[in-house]
Amino acid sequence: MNSMVQQLCPVQSCKKIATDTFLLRFNSPDIVASAQPGQFVNILTAEIGKGPLLRRPFSISRVEDNIIELIFHVVGIGTNLLSQNQPGDWIDVIGPLGQPFHRDADYGTALLVAGGIGVAPLPFLTNDLLKYGKRIETFVGYRNAGQVFTKHLQNVRIATDDGSDGFHGNVVQLLELFLNQNNFQKAKIFACGPTVMLKALTELAKRKSICCELSLEGQMACGIGICQGCAVERTEDTAKYALVCKDGPAFLSTEVNL
Ligand SMILES: Cc1cc2nc3c(=O)[nH]c(=O)nc-3n(C[C@H](O)[C@H](O)[C@H](O)COP(=O)(O)OP(=O)(O)OC[C@H]3O[C@@H](n4cnc5c(N)ncnc54)[C@H](O)[C@@H]3O)c2cc1C
Ligand code: FES
Repeated sequence: MNSMVQQLCPVQSCKKIATDTFLLRFNSPDIVASAQPGQFVNILTAEIGKGPLLRRPFSISRVEDNIIELIFHVVGIGTNLLSQNQPGDWIDVIGPLGQPFHRDADYGTALLVAGGIGVAPLPFLTNDLLKYGKRIETFVGYRNAGQVFTKHLQNVRIATDDGSDGFHGNVVQLLELFLNQNNFQKAKIFACGPTVMLKALTELAKRKSICCELSLEGQMACGIGICQGCAVERTEDTAKYALVCKDGPAFLSTEVNL
């Protein structure tokens, strides 16, 4: 059943939580009712004529009662406009969109791995995995201590590029160290972050024979499978390409060529 809706949603709050990073909370009982971890919403960041015509996609970071939470980095015009929202403003949202993470497979430990703002979908995923009774180990990598955000995560290990917090290096190196010291019979990696990180993680998962699911964050235009602008090459299938917005954003690392 497709339960996607388009609606105007009232903003509850929009606060800076780390360097260039904002937490936006808005009310949408309809989206909360059907949202699953790994799905995203597509937002018009300003009224038509006052900002970009194209919507901007954001992972659903957490749901609570009738509230959806998003965490985003300000990188350009749309995210700058979004960050200026105040309680009582209204935003035009389409969602939930895309395929969720596959959480119910045969594994005991979930290894959650994020690079930068790739942390966004992890709180929602964490909450859900706890319901499945999974053990959770979380690995997050940032440029520096100012960007670190770990709220609503479980068993968190931090890596920073400049060594200002946690492990000095990248998050894939940190995960590899952890895997070398701990033996997991049945683990599954869930990851979100920049493509370069996801490529390195795909290699590591292959070497360690661990099932790995990636949430891709390529650029999108329509967000609903019409424009074909978000195609990603499949490794093998009858169709050569998959659409990140419709077939993803979550894919097994063995399914796509990054
Ligand atoms: C499924 C999905 C989920 C996402 N979830 C989140 C999230 O939870 N939090 C978050 O902060 N961001 C997320 N993003 C990325 C977010 O959509 C972009 O940062 C946003 O669209 C940028 O809009 P803008 O108008 O501010 O930037 P623009 O002015 O459009 O671009 C500014 C700069 O950022 C680059 N850029 C734009 N979009 C992306 C992108 N997707 N990946 C890499 N570089 C990009 C542009 O090339 C340009 O250099 C997600 C993207 C996808 C596809
Ligand atoms: S963004 Fe248009 S098809 Fe995916």
